[in-house]
Amino acid sequence: MQSKKRRRVDPPTIHPRNRYSEKPPDFGLLAYLYPSFSPYVFPSSRPGGRPSIDWTDFNATRELTRVLLLHDHGVNWWIPDRQLCPTVPNRSNYIHWIEDLLSSDLIPAWDCSDRKVRGFDIGTGANCIYPLLGASLLGWSFVGSDVTDAALEWARKNVESNPHLSELIEIRNANDFLCSAEVKPKSGKIIEGELFAEEKEAESLEPKLVLSSFSKPHVLVGVVKDDEKFDFCMCNPPFFESIEEAGLNPKTSCGGTPEELVYPGGEQAFVTQIINDSVVLRNSFRWFTSMVGRKANLKVLVSKLREVGVSLVKTTEFVQGQTARWGLAWSFIAVKKSSIALNTPIKSHHSFMLEGLQRQFGAFQILKAVESFFLANGAICKCDFSSFLVNVTLSNDQIGDLLKDGLANIGGRAISSMSNTSTDLKFPKELLFHVSVFEQSPGTVLVRGSLLHKDNPLSGVFSSLFSRLEEALKNDFVNKLRGS
Ligand SMILES: C[S@@+](CC[C@H](N)C(=O)[O-])C[C@H]1O[C@@H](n2cnc3c(N)ncnc32)[C@H](O)[C@@H]1O
Repeated sequence: MQSKKRRRVDPPTIHPRNRYSEKPPDFGLLAYLYPSFSPYVFPSSRPGGRPSIDWTDFNATRELTRVLLLHDHGVNWWIPDRQLCPTVPNRSNYIHWIEDLLSSDLIPAWDCSDRKVRGFDIGTGANCIYPLLGASLLGWSFVGSDVTDAALEWARKNVESNPHLSELIEIRNANDFLCSAEVKPKSGKIIEGELFAEEKEAESLEPKLVLSSFSKPHVLVGVVKDDEKFDFCMCNPPFFESIEEAGLNPKTSCGGTPEELVYPGGEQAFVTQIINDSVVLRNSFRWFTSMVGRKANLKVLVSKLREVGVSLVKTTEFVQGQTARWGLAWSFIAVKKSSIALNTPIKSHHSFMLEGLQRQFGAFQILKAVESFFLANGAICKCDFSSFLVNVTLSNDQIGDLLKDGLANIGGRAISSMSNTSTDLKFPKELLFHVSVFEQSPGTVLVRGSLLHKDNPLSGVFSSLFSRLEEALKNDFVNKLRGS
């Protein structure tokens, strides 16, 4: 029987490469090492609990950010009172997500492969947090832009306080370049966009939306110079339409001036501006990205991206304490055919949505199709129809057969990297994972795969098989029906 029951999807976790993923900051140790921090640290009221700080005290959160940047990243940093104070673990997640995008192989690299990674931080703020983190963690170079005097002055001060990074970071005043421009989108590609990580080989189609001229100041056009190329842009946009809407989160105090938090039309308008500019600068960036604060806005923005004809959209959810935030990324570069590689970063969960399913197809039919797909790949499957889950086991031999078959559909380049790996690593005997199917609403099903042993060196096979599953299900249940 088809269940309408919704099941809880696991919350997103901190990025595995985030320095704090295994071990959160030790406030007790930091207080001992940095006397200026110690007045803000108090012991836990619970026996055996960890020391904490008063998250509603701006001075405490600012001092925490200062010592984390200094202690863990070797970065000297400060911001004046009231400016937006970033939390280092949260901001690091966005940097690592971009790192994943850049290494994902979904789109080709720029021609000169020895080029260092170069990013553009739109609205870098007084805190200049993304350039400082990207440069100190990964050696990336950045242009950080902003429009307020305070942000520009303090971003520059923060760069100058770090001579070891200052060569890597340029702060640009976006006011110097504000102008209006005629936008003539070139022929582009239409994506199959969804609210979960998805990519599709692009077809060459004219964009549906023809933009005329901008009434709002640009964020990238003009600020980016004619001959410049960037690997990515990133942005933590002003989220709110008014300072009243911004309000105050009683649980934390991260500061933030109206200029930092508010923009006419809120984040939707700001990110729309980035999208508009990306149409013009489609060849100057490999990836365009932005943070998004509201899921409803994410949906609207994904639709806009479809309209302007991007070739690829990716989304992710960031852990931000109690608050959800999303990452939105897009590109106009054609997706590489063999972009599904076995050597993708280890990821123990994958998910995708099937949307627009016909009435007769629900969770039950999708679960059966998942089972058939893995059986056809030689796996042993055990279906649990009561919890809408299929357990999948692939033996080492079966994986070997898949690899010998060329995993032709999985990406040739990766095979050699797998075979190299196999000489170095002791492979486990089998690959175990389960795939769950959740009916989100009539016509929309979420498919989620979870690897049982996340450090399995064969997790790349899991990722690749899962991508193939997505392709097969979309083909059978979504695309064919659309075409018919
Ligand atoms: C939410 S703050 C982000 C600051 C910092 N990146 C962070 O994550 O903490 C948004 C920033 O965007 C800046 N901003 C607003 N309009 C802009 C524009 N047209 N170009 C560049 N920056 C802009 C604001 O001044 C503010 O510093």
